[in-house]
Amino acid sequence: MSTERVHFTKEKATMLATLYGRARDSMSADPILGDRTAEELIERIDYDFGRFRMHRGWTTGVALRARQLDAWAADFLGRDPAVTVLHLGCGLDSRVFRLDPPSGVRWYDVDYPDVIAVRHRLYPDREGYRMIGTSVTDVRWLERIPAERPALVVAEGLLMYLSEGDIEDLFRGIADRFPSGQLMFDAISRLGVRLQRFNRPVRAAGATFTWALDDARLLERWDRRIRLVTELPVLDLPGVERLPVGYRIPIRAMRLVPAFRRVGRLLRYEFSRPR
Ligand SMILES: C[S@@+](CC[C@H](N)C(=O)[O-])C[C@H]1O[C@@H](n2cnc3c(N)ncnc32)[C@H](O)[C@@H]1O
Repeated sequence: MSTERVHFTKEKATMLATLYGRARDSMSADPILGDRTAEELIERIDYDFGRFRMHRGWTTGVALRARQLDAWAADFLGRDPAVTVLHLGCGLDSRVFRLDPPSGVRWYDVDYPDVIAVRHRLYPDREGYRMIGTSVTDVRWLERIPAERPALVVAEGLLMYLSEGDIEDLFRGIADRFPSGQLMFDAISRLGVRLQRFNRPVRAAGATFTWALDDARLLERWDRRIRLVTELPVLDLPGVERLPVGYRIPIRAMRLVPAFRRVGRLLRYEFSRPR
């Protein structure tokens, strides 16, 4: 098996941290996500993953976040298989293989061109699946996607690296193009941005969080077609009780303080054209 030497910096390098987090979860005795592809990929990628100095809390958090977004995505796909999936900032994530949607689903994995070039070398083709190499903020890429179906938009570990204006343009562009759909992503609060120096893997990657979301209803004010459906603090993710006791006790205390409870959240929105 050939190995792939990679060199990425800043927010692109963070995809190697999340990949490694999922691989470490898969290698554990009792995995949460069980992403065997991540485990295989870290064997094929020539990279010093040890530099992320990842602790158990981080790998568990990455696996829980991915599992929850998988569950929301599977719920959407289960209701209507004739949809288009836009998986933004996909990095080296195997979500399309984990969810294994029916071939009628059109699935687009989108990330920077050099990330997609590596993805092409690591992943096989599959029916209904395409990769697009572009910055998601250059919204002209949306014109390449057929527009008639509902869209499921998943962005995991992406938006905190973008500017607020770019995110607003992107979501408005999506709501303009597709008849209806859902947006699902994780976001951090202003306090989370301030605390980013404690996020060791992100610091090791040299990346910087820029976008903070305190009020989840902000998107509804950007565009009246968008409605908040679910706001789930990461401290409440199903499975946090699987963390070692050294994490569970501080988590219990942090849940009681609204500012800490809001630091990391998974969010789900619906959008549709007005009747
Ligand atoms: C933390 S990684 C997450 C990767 C993947 N979603 C996962 O969970 O493993 C952030 C990803 O966002 C991508 N990214 C950041 N800014 C981007 C942009 N403007 N356009 C496209 N991708 C971007 C990076 O290249 C990287 O793959």
